[in-house]
Amino acid sequence: MHLLVTGGLGFIGSNFVRYWHKHHGEDSITILDKKTYAVNPKTEELLRGELGDRLHIVEGDICDMEKVWPLVDACDIVVHFAAESHVDRSVMNPSVFLTTNVMGTFTLLEAAVRAGKKRFHHVSTDEVFGTLPLDSKEKFTEKSPYDPRSPYSASKAASDHLVRAYHETYGLPVTISNCTNNYGPLMFPEKVMPLYITRLFDGKPIPVYGKGLAVRDYIWVDDHARGIELCIQKGVIGQTYLFGGDAERTTNEVAQTIARQLGADPSLIRHTVDRPGHDPRYAIDFSKATAELGWSPSRSFDEGIAQMIAWYKANEAWWRPLMHDAEQLAEKYLQGAI
Ligand SMILES: NC(=O)c1ccc[n+]([C@@H]2O[C@H](COP(=O)([O-])OP(=O)(O)OC[C@H]3O[C@@H](n4cnc5c(N)ncnc54)[C@H](O)[C@@H]3O)[C@@H](O)[C@H]2O)c1
Repeated sequence: MHLLVTGGLGFIGSNFVRYWHKHHGEDSITILDKKTYAVNPKTEELLRGELGDRLHIVEGDICDMEKVWPLVDACDIVVHFAAESHVDRSVMNPSVFLTTNVMGTFTLLEAAVRAGKKRFHHVSTDEVFGTLPLDSKEKFTEKSPYDPRSPYSASKAASDHLVRAYHETYGLPVTISNCTNNYGPLMFPEKVMPLYITRLFDGKPIPVYGKGLAVRDYIWVDDHARGIELCIQKGVIGQTYLFGGDAERTTNEVAQTIARQLGADPSLIRHTVDRPGHDPRYAIDFSKATAELGWSPSRSFDEGIAQMIAWYKANEAWWRPLMHDAEQLAEKYLQGAI
């Protein structure tokens, strides 16, 4: 099989490519990636080293039909990760989120239909469902109404609707997955968990939004990759599957777990002004994925964090050169310390 993986140099895409190669070494993979700020050149080196001639990397924009068309035509399946993904950046500059996440998905869908209705798996987020009350036990399911609250989640919601519309209107064979917060190796250091880990390695303070009570569910990135693999192998065409880590944690708990495992001084955890439109709680009911795909998360949050810390310890050469921008962002938040 030949996979076209969009955004395969980003955090989840690159973990998926490694996972797929480990389990399906005979398959070939083409990555289409714009190499935005979110790409570490060392990830490309690492993937080339691991996959060798099974991997072809094309630099390009998913909005560019001339680039997209021959790649979609040549593949057996499109696995679509490419997106602008950082919520804070979507608050500061929403325009590129609309262009990439909506128009880019549209371009890929058009190409997939024209290429003879290629199999298409769309990777999306639980943030499209909006938020849940902090004090409830309610969880999002595949039937939850869409209620996005940031430019990022609104653009992802629009892309999910387009994918469904292309299935209903043109018979494109699609599956969609919506997933909670991923964590693991190869995560760009401006995202919260690697930011906390790497700053605490250096004994620096870490910023926690507001009172740190926002709740997210955290999934080990390889569990997400396994979920996508199962959608591709066993997913019912036209269906959506939700994946979660069964690990709901407040931001305070995330910061405290990392600080505790690193033996860091808890006073390095600093509270800052909150993000506009910061959602109180996301949580996923993944029982459909368990019942229909046989999927469930493979490890506890504490085990995952320990594994992630070990990876960042062993791979300083991967993240250290990226720290300048991440540090600036962290310092900006810390200036709003309360
Ligand atoms: N990070 C999470 O916790 C999470 C959770 C659920 C779903 N998702 C979804 O998973 C996907 C991947 O997320 P991630 O965290 O790996 O993001 P990321 O920002 O690390 O990677 C995104 C990748 O897409 C590429 N890209 C961006 N714009 C492009 C364009 N116009 N053309 C081609 N490539 C482009 C980037 O260069 C990068 O390699 C996204 O669709 C995101 O919405 C992420």
